[in-house]
Amino acid sequence: MVVPDRGLPARVRIHEVGARDGLQNEKSTVPTEVKAEFVRRLADAGLTTIEATSFVRPEWVPQLADAERLYPLVRDLEGVHLPVLVPNGRGLDRALALGATRVAVFASATESFAKANLNRTLDDSLAVFEPVVARAKAERLHVRGYVSMCFGDPWEGAVPIRQVVRVCGALRDMGCDELSLGDTIGVATPAHVRALLSALGEEGVPADVIGVHFHDTYGQALANTYAALQHGVTTVDASAGGLGGCPYAKSATGNLATEDLLWMLQGLGIDTGVDLGRLVATSAWMASRLGRPSPSRTVRALSHEEQ
Ligand code: HMG
Ligand code: MG
Repeated sequence: MVVPDRGLPARVRIHEVGARDGLQNEKSTVPTEVKAEFVRRLADAGLTTIEATSFVRPEWVPQLADAERLYPLVRDLEGVHLPVLVPNGRGLDRALALGATRVAVFASATESFAKANLNRTLDDSLAVFEPVVARAKAERLHVRGYVSMCFGDPWEGAVPIRQVVRVCGALRDMGCDELSLGDTIGVATPAHVRALLSALGEEGVPADVIGVHFHDTYGQALANTYAALQHGVTTVDASAGGLGGCPYAKSATGNLATEDLLWMLQGLGIDTGVDLGRLVATSAWMASRLGRPSPSRTVRALSHEEQ
């Protein structure tokens, strides 16, 4: 048995975002039944937090316009949390009507992305989220607060850490149970991750309420994850097969692939409860449905081994 390196957690919770962050960015819209099968297979591989879809304005993300049809097909999966994205009160109404128990609001650390993604100024978007989070908490929902563009922004360049800390503080004050620090365009490096986590720690935000959400544009996602684990973070967002991106952020590529993450965590002796073989088979199946190979190195390596 491998014993985890000193200073690393014994267990990591993977927050799987392939069905949402991955599929929202596909050129073609994946049929609802295929999405449901994807979510079921992810659960079968042992993932217990699977972001299912978004209740956003369908005109903005047509790929997820079937949220009302998809959610009932997967909501009875045993032992699995199925968080959904809600951008406003209308999104929360839709999620509550279907019995969602976990929702996520998604803020930006920059003005430019708040405008591009939510059609609001940063402060106006926070003002929209405040009653959404309050109502979700009153309904006893678990609420995640995403913060995008924590490390860099395609329009504004470098993002000052104090801006990220301010938005994280606002989401915590509203009552978010968990934060997810988004490197939407994948420009972070480990030293920057450490600096942001230290600044949040100094503001009293404990590592156990923080998730990290790395996109892999510059191939840094695993190194960044390692830095976050050393800092006490135990929730890592990843996308099966490395699917993903953001339709409203030019230069955003896929998320850290769940399989690449698992390969590293297994090697470090860190438990996740996820079966790598089953997950690779799921991503290979999804890649065949999408008509292109998975960008995950681990999926490609292990799929070739099988041939
Ligand atoms: P807007 O165009 O300003 O909408 O969009 P509005 O508030 O002016 O409302 C206009 C109409 O839309 C109204 O209908 C509303 O009811 C309707 P009308 O009265 O005219 O008939 N409407 C809705 N309909 C259904 N569901 C809703 C909804 N809201 C309004 N929820 C809005 C503002 C926020 C809605 C829009 O900008 C939006 O949907 N944005 C979502 C964009 C998105 O999903 N981006 C990807 C997710 S974020 C991400 O990927 C980053 C992340 O992965 C982390 C990282 O990597 O950094 C999380
Ligand atoms: Mg993302």
